[in-house]
Formats: sequence, C-alpha cells, structure tokens
Amino acid sequence: MTVAPPAPAAFVTGASAGLGRAITEKLLREGFVVWGTARDRSRLQETFKDRAQFHPVVLDLQQAEAAVEVYRQARAETPAGFDLVVNNAGYGVFGGFVETPPEVWRRQLDAMLMTNLSLVHQQLADMTGRSRGTLVNVASMATEFPLPYMTAYNVAKAGLSALSESLLIETAGSEVTVIDFRPGDFRTGFNQAMPSSPLLEPSGRSSPRQLSAWRALERHLASAPGAERAADDLWRAIHRGRGGVVRSGNWFQVTLAPLFERLVPLAWARAVRWRYFGLSS
Ligand SMILES: NC(=O)c1ccc[n+]([C@@H]2O[C@H](COP(=O)([O-])OP(=O)(O)OC[C@H]3O[C@@H](n4cnc5c(N)ncnc54)[C@H](OP(=O)(O)O)[C@@H]3O)[C@@H](O)[C@H]2O)c1
Repeated sequence: MTVAPPAPAAFVTGASAGLGRAITEKLLREGFVVWGTARDRSRLQETFKDRAQFHPVVLDLQQAEAAVEVYRQARAETPAGFDLVVNNAGYGVFGGFVETPPEVWRRQLDAMLMTNLSLVHQQLADMTGRSRGTLVNVASMATEFPLPYMTAYNVAKAGLSALSESLLIETAGSEVTVIDFRPGDFRTGFNQAMPSSPLLEPSGRSSPRQLSAWRALERHLASAPGAERAADDLWRAIHRGRGGVVRSGNWFQVTLAPLFERLVPLAWARAVRWRYFGLSS
C-alpha cells in the first residue's frame, strides 16, 4: 500500500486581511495546510470558516518573544515543519517625522523589523535544519521608492529587504530559498488600518504638502490591482524555486519606474517621483 505524502505546510503572518488573506486563499487552493496569524482569532475564524486546512493563530508583532513562541508552537503541530513561511503582517503610519512622537516610529520598527528578525532567526534555523524550505519576507516597493511622510515604514521595509538580501548570501547553494517580495500598490484596507495620524486628527496640524501626499496615496491605492494578483505573482515565484527580489504590481510601478530610475540622474528621478506622490518640489 502506498502512503500519500503529507500536504505541504505554510505559516503566513497577517492572514486576516489584504495580501496575507489572498496569499492564504491561494495556498489553500494549492493544497497547503496553512497556519495563518492575526491579532484577533475571531477575525481569522470568520474569514476561513469551515476550512479544515486552515489553523488560526494569534500573533502580535508588537510582542517579539511571544511571537516567536507562537511560531514554535505552530511548527510543533506540523508533521515535519514548515515548507513555506510568509512574513507578511505589517501596518503603516502616516505623518511628518518630527511631528510623530518617537515612540510611534520606535513601535513600528520594533514590530515590523525587530520582531520579523526574531521570527526569521527561528524560521531559518528550522529550514536549514531540515535542509529545505522557502522563506518570503514581504517588503514593499517603498524599499526603492520611499513613501512620503511614512519614514519609519520606509526604514522598516528597506531593513527587511536588506535582511533578505543578506540571507541570500548565507543560503546560496542550499535548498533553502529566500524571496524578497516587493508589492507595489494593491487595493487592500492598508490605508484604513493606519493608526491615527496627524492628518486624521482634527488638530489641523497637517501641512498642505502632507494633505496632497495623502490624497495621492489614497488615489494610488484606489486604482491599484486587487490582492489576488499579488498572491498569484508570489505563487509563481515560489513555484519557480528561485530566490531574490520579486516585484509585483502595476506595470508603471514595478517595471517602468525602476528602469527609469536606473537610466536618468537621481535628481530627475526624484523630481518625477515626488510629483507622482503629489509633491510639487
Ligand atoms: N497594500 C499595499 O499596497 C502594499 C504595498 C506594499 C507592501 N504591502 C505590505 O503588505 C503587507 C500586508 O499589507 P496589506 O495591504 O494586506 O494590509 P492590511 O489589509 O491592513 O492587512 C494587514 C495584515 O497584517 C496584520 N497586522 C497588522 N498589524 C499587525 C501587528 N502589529 N501584529 C500582527 N499582525 C498585524 C493584520 O492583522 P489584524 O489587524 O487582523 O491583527 C492584517 O492581517 C504589509 O506588510 C504591507 O506593508 C502592502
């Protein structure tokens, strides 16, 4: 009698909404068993109701040690560890760097950079231990084109990309694949999920420049592709089995803009980029 191999297992952070939800849906359709995280279990249970292949897991990026422990517990529930990990969870904060209290951007860096570093430390140890696996860190095109008035976010995403690039060196020649996934704009609840910012406060502290930038960000997200497209792009990259940078999004953001930046002087490229973000100079 032949015994069927166990279904592949994946761990996805931020599975309750947006890109993480679309990636989880895609993996479930492809036959994975998925341990998907969010801060609120009921949100996951509601989203993935009656999906036997889905395991809801509560994880808060704001608590690094607890997050690693949660990951370890999930791994212990799998027959042979995770074949795929997608570190996707994240959030934005909009506001001027000076007006934003240091604890706000420190909190964001702790969650999106330091906790992810701690998680990846354990995840990569597991993958090298079993000599295989695919590790995806969801960065952003903000790594290459910093978003206006989202400084800590840009720093966190650039740091995540630097982490992935560094790990590519250390995993070269092995069966462990590291993907630096860089989405452009996708139509999710990302902007709405941002904690209150100077712009959204009735204090009137936001400058016309900030307001213009915010409106541009809203416009870009409203006209962006749906999250399923990012999930399809990521799935193709996982399937190919090659590590490195994977950009996903509309043609202008992921193909033309990076090419343009390489071909023209930085000052020109910056001027075009700022105009794109609603900033005249
Ligand atoms: N949408 C875009 O255009 C875009 C572009 C580039 C990169 N990205 C990146 O893609 C990832 C997903 O973004 P999205 O657009 O899908 O946003 P989203 O719709 O707001 O979803 C964010 C997900 O992350 C989780 N999350 C947020 N803060 C968390 C925290 N402190 N601890 C644990 N989980 C947390 C949320 O779960 P709960 O709130 O339920 O806990 C949710 O599942 C983020 O890293 C984002 O930076 C998005």
